[in-house]
Amino acid sequence: MNRFSGARASARLPSPTMRVIFVAAECEPWAKTGGLGDVVDALARALGRIPGAVDGPVEVFLPRYRSVQVPPSAAVDALEVRVPDPLAPGGTSDVTVRSFDANGYRLRLIDHPAAYDRAGFYGDSSGDFPDNARRFALLGRAALETRRAERRPVDVVAIHDWHACPVALLRDVQYADDPVVGRAAISLTIHNLAYHGWTPRDQVDQLGLGAGGATVGDAWGIDLLGEGIRRAETVNTVSPTYAREVLLPAFGMGLDGHLVARGDQFTGILNGLDQEVWDPATDPALAAPYDAASLAGKAACRADLLARVGLDPADPSAILGVIGRLDPQKGFDLVAGAARRLVARGARLVVLGSGDATLLEGLRAEATRAPGRIAIVERFDRDLSRQIYAGVDLFLMPSRFEPCGQGQMIAMRYGTPPIAHRTGGLADTIVDLGIDAAAGTGFLFDQATPEALIAAVDRALRVYAAPDRGAWSALVARGMAVDWSWESSSAPLYASLFRRAIALRLATTG
Ligand code: GLC
Repeated sequence: MNRFSGARASARLPSPTMRVIFVAAECEPWAKTGGLGDVVDALARALGRIPGAVDGPVEVFLPRYRSVQVPPSAAVDALEVRVPDPLAPGGTSDVTVRSFDANGYRLRLIDHPAAYDRAGFYGDSSGDFPDNARRFALLGRAALETRRAERRPVDVVAIHDWHACPVALLRDVQYADDPVVGRAAISLTIHNLAYHGWTPRDQVDQLGLGAGGATVGDAWGIDLLGEGIRRAETVNTVSPTYAREVLLPAFGMGLDGHLVARGDQFTGILNGLDQEVWDPATDPALAAPYDAASLAGKAACRADLLARVGLDPADPSAILGVIGRLDPQKGFDLVAGAARRLVARGARLVVLGSGDATLLEGLRAEATRAPGRIAIVERFDRDLSRQIYAGVDLFLMPSRFEPCGQGQMIAMRYGTPPIAHRTGGLADTIVDLGIDAAAGTGFLFDQATPEALIAAVDRALRVYAAPDRGAWSALVARGMAVDWSWESSSAPLYASLFRRAIALRLATTG
């Protein structure tokens, strides 16, 4: 019986603590390729810190990929769970659920080597794995089956991105009458609307929906993210501006109609930033610590970074930093298109990118033309990214679209004003200095073009190079003073969202 049923009978909104599980494909520091992993980790921890919000720690279900470092066995609880898996011999797969306390939440790794002990999370050098539908359906099903095996009901399953959307289908098609998980509310958080988890009809059996699978989706197959959007009690994305933008075809990636149909059950909640993880005063990757009261360490970080990437540390000209996944979303082509003119203005560039290397071709050509002015590092490098946030003078974030973005927040916290395209979460986190000289924290441009980017850099360089450093210092100080903590606003908003999801679920299940 759902623990909130009594509350509904007396027509009161539920207020007791919620039993919350997360299902996600990434969770920092165990498995991360992008911001998804950071948010899953930070939000799970922050929810646990809100008095009265969750019942026990949030449990985060994550695949045990090959690269996941499991702590020594004494600290880990291993539970064998038999999971229905129609394509497996005998119709079931045995998984080992390895659970341990992970700094404020409980991590529950689904260990099934055939599915997850591979070279990558989503694919390898030959592309996406052809059985991703099965791999991620197994994750969701294993999460539900684990709680069933333990007879521990769930009030809310927070699902993140398409990988976790099979949970919504499984609940509705197969577990609706289950007393332990069938009444759980589902809250979908969209970090990335570009990846839907399209599952063609001839692969639908991988999801293990049984006969019910034939009734889901259309003739072509199943759009897993689309199904999640339709079925979750509440749906959100990670900034208010992006939540408005995606209602339009230009940003909706084909799902704008689904999102519009959800009305006020689709919202935007701005991500926070884990301010302990990102703190220039304690960051061990930095050459010297610093804080807003004393920026001497930042100068040391600048010199250290430039020496590392082969640029002249003695040259005072402004350094622009760019960091990101090499994905068309991130606008590296705009930087390439602007690079020659930026260098002509005396600026230098430090670029760190990992992913599709062809997206750096334009920039590489510019770097060859301008020796000593552009440094490009093509890899994923956690420490170097921190050294860049700290060591550059301005941080560029020219994303064509950006659900929230994290780099701009980190840059501000590290005393590096951002220059960004006015879109999504970038618009919600940066106050343009030209619009509000007393409150500005960075520079925004409206068109995703090299020209608009250059105009914003020109505005920034004028402040940076002004003989009177007062305006620049104030800009840096304001950015460093922003409170990004999850606990102060975003996590309580998620707690309210989950309560709302429970109420909506109760209204349909009784
Ligand atoms: C995705 C989005 C990014 C967001 C992150 C975490 O990576 O592209 O904008 O900050 O998810 O929500």
